[in-house]
Amino acid sequence: MRAVVLVGGFGTRLRPLTCHRPKQMLPIVHRPMLDHVVGHLVDHGIEDVVLSLGFRADTFAAGYPDSMCAGARLHYAVEPEPLDTAGAIRFAATHAGIGERFLVLNGDVLTDLDITRFVEFHDSRGAEATIALHKVDDPSRYGVVPCDGGGRVLEFVEKPVPGEAPTDLINAGTYVLEPSVLARIDDGRRVSVEREVFPALVRDRSLFALDGETYWIDAGTPETYIRVQLDLTEGLRGEPVPAIAASARVAGGATVRRSVIGPEAVVEAGARVEGAVVLAGATVRADAVVEGSIVGFGAEVAAGAHVGPCSIIGDHQVVAAGARLDGVKQPADCP
Ligand code: GDD
Ligand code: MG
Repeated sequence: MRAVVLVGGFGTRLRPLTCHRPKQMLPIVHRPMLDHVVGHLVDHGIEDVVLSLGFRADTFAAGYPDSMCAGARLHYAVEPEPLDTAGAIRFAATHAGIGERFLVLNGDVLTDLDITRFVEFHDSRGAEATIALHKVDDPSRYGVVPCDGGGRVLEFVEKPVPGEAPTDLINAGTYVLEPSVLARIDDGRRVSVEREVFPALVRDRSLFALDGETYWIDAGTPETYIRVQLDLTEGLRGEPVPAIAASARVAGGATVRRSVIGPEAVVEAGARVEGAVVLAGATVRADAVVEGSIVGFGAEVAAGAHVGPCSIIGDHQVVAAGARLDGVKQPADCP
């Protein structure tokens, strides 16, 4: 079976880290997000992956020069312009010559979904398309998917008004699609799978869904980008992954709690890093504090500075000595 992985979005919620690279090329505990997503496919025997590319497609070719990722062969489908999710699926599947039922993944989702069982469910229902589901506390930032007892989808509501979602089961961003779905997507214009294609399939009663009942996270926001990494390092998904890279340097008198410290990063004496991600080559100077935040590649938090909850420091930025940031993006937008 082949898979299309959508990685062409702008990653705006993770700016400024995504000014020059798609979010799927950001590290999740020292390895690109895409490695984790594709590695999970390989675990289920899928070794032929079509990347649906748009924004900064060049960074994938640079990151995977031999077109191999986590044991899978990559096929690159670069959109001439952003076609939105369904337009992207159609373009990529056509580009790669896909003619049989195939898998589609949102490229920012990390999950332990049993793909084998999921595909079996799709086949058993004779579905035209099947969506994996996940239960969340606040469905309003997702696609919401009420179903009947047999798994037939009754409605697809993308990003409902808070408090008005018909169920807490949301679209987990993994689909099995029959090739007939491609014929439903107009060529050459932006088409959303969530807003156009799924509602049309609901009207034809050919859309099904299955709750994966397993670990799931969309790592595309600052809060979840941190959380997914803490989950891995704290053993929520099997053996804990080491949080501090072997080439990082944490001084004896520094405090690092529930945080990921990337390769060649430095945390000096007296500094405190807590609930944070410090990317490769960044420096947290003496007596500085970083909490609940992300420090970008090669950035510097100067002595005594305080980078407080939900801040993001961009690549090679310097937070001035003694400065206090709280919920700040530095720079505020892409140059
Ligand atoms: N190639 C291409 N072209 N990819 C795109 C485009 C495009 O025009 N637009 C978005 N993508 C990619 C993104 O890179 C990402 O991997 C995926 O499509 C989903 O886009 P997001 O921007 O992350 O969407 P979302 O998180 O707000 O919502 C989606 O995911 C939720 C689950 O995480 C929707 O599918 C929701 O229904 C779903 O619940
Ligand atoms: Mg997302």
